[in-house]
Amino acid sequence: MKIIVIINNKGGVGKTTSAVNISASLAALNKKILLIDIDPSASASAHLGFYANEEAPEKPSTICDYLLDKDKDINKYFHKTDIKNLWCLPSEPSLDDFYQDMQQDDELPFFITRNQLSEKFDLVIVDCPPNMGSLSLNILAIADYALIPVMTQYIALTGLDLTLKLITKVRRRLNKNLKILGIFGTLYDRRTKSAKIVLANLQEKYEEQFMQTVISINNKLCEAYNAKKPIMLFNKRARGNLEYIELAKEIIKKI
Ligand SMILES: Nc1ncnc2c1ncn2[C@@H]1O[C@H](COP(=O)(O)OP(=O)(O)O)[C@@H](O)[C@H]1O
Ligand SMILES: [Mg+2]
Repeated sequence: MKIIVIINNKGGVGKTTSAVNISASLAALNKKILLIDIDPSASASAHLGFYANEEAPEKPSTICDYLLDKDKDINKYFHKTDIKNLWCLPSEPSLDDFYQDMQQDDELPFFITRNQLSEKFDLVIVDCPPNMGSLSLNILAIADYALIPVMTQYIALTGLDLTLKLITKVRRRLNKNLKILGIFGTLYDRRTKSAKIVLANLQEKYEEQFMQTVISINNKLCEAYNAKKPIMLFNKRARGNLEYIELAKEIIKKI
């Protein structure tokens, strides 16, 4: 079992879209996958179909309920999804306050241990909030890999530098085994020259650390997100689906 944390401390770079669709693609490639949502905005949970009824959103049992659980039986909180081999540990908005309070109480070092995950899953994918707060730091402290999506636009590059610096810091202070699995381009607009230049710069600078698969801008990914489905259940033939499957294959090769 390996834990892969999808991280970039900028918002809107495609973390959640990638966490969900990479997880679905890996599951379709016959890996047993758990997606852990530690973003209090719970967008990966919603993307997978939890909280689906907007009028009366039904709350699934979440990480917060697990934290309150006296028995600490985490298995009860892994939810099946519509995709075979893919489970989800959902989040909810109160996770943020909840976790801050819990840390002050010094109750637990972290809410999940590797042992609890290792028997059931081949890979655990984590969707993070867009910051390096204590939730992100604590998951990185027990992770094997960081996987970094970067928007293929100039403005995104400073965010990437910052993220890499923070990962170096985590490696020094919290988890010397943390590796960077790769950096991959997202929201790539092949029609524009500027996106091509940014991509070429990224490939030159990060060499083999930069993943070969690049995720293009594809409106179907947006529509699938709104429909609360992974792209493979929404439009199998969409470019977004094919690219995420390619990326998943590349991830398996790299591990
Ligand atoms: N490759 C893509 N093509 C088109 N829209 C995308 C793509 N990736 C993400 N989006 C859209 O961009 C927005 C931000 O993506 P999201 O995955 O939520 O980013 P983050 O989790 O980093 O904040 C969402 O509306 C999402 O549907
Ligand atoms: Mg997100």
